[in-house]
Amino acid sequence: MPDRADAVRLLEEWVENEGLRKHMYAVEAAVRHYAKLRGEDENVWGLAGLLHDLDWEKHPDRHPMVAVERLRELGYPEEVVQAILAHRSDFTGVEPESELDKVLLACDELSGLVYAACLVRPTGVDDLKPKSVTKKLKDKTFAAGVSREEVQRGIELIGLDRAEHIQNVIDGLRSAAAELGIRGEDLGG
Ligand SMILES: [Fe+2]
Ligand SMILES: [Fe+2]
Repeated sequence: MPDRADAVRLLEEWVENEGLRKHMYAVEAAVRHYAKLRGEDENVWGLAGLLHDLDWEKHPDRHPMVAVERLRELGYPEEVVQAILAHRSDFTGVEPESELDKVLLACDELSGLVYAACLVRPTGVDDLKPKSVTKKLKDKTFAAGVSREEVQRGIELIGLDRAEHIQNVIDGLRSAAAELGIRGEDLGG
């Protein structure tokens, strides 16, 4: 099975946009955190988070089909491939079924919102609370690219309280805060 270093090389080969790279690392951190909470394999789950948008920059009109084809050739686990297919069920017709499928979908858009919320605070993720994220979620003009419907769908799929899910995503991003550049010390707080 390819490891994280292989996956990072692949990501750097396919994705040039720094914002998209950061998004993929942020989703990886959130999904890994859920694996830890649930006693699942962090390395496998992490790969799904890290690579879920691999072909978004190069093949937006076929995302994620091109990536999935390549990942299968490279021998990535089928559960990783399935989760990547299911995070775009509207396009692929593959509905989220496994726990990993649901967690990936639930972390995708929400990680984007939490990340954006960190960037507008001098203290970044350091003391970020679910309450402030919920406020941003309700403010439709904030990080307008984040689909509130997808966030809601994710919360329903994962079956947790909204605040609990947000807290888990915050904790996940916090565990990779230095790499993501979202600590107070990175943001001048
Ligand atoms: Fe995607
Ligand atoms: Fe994504």
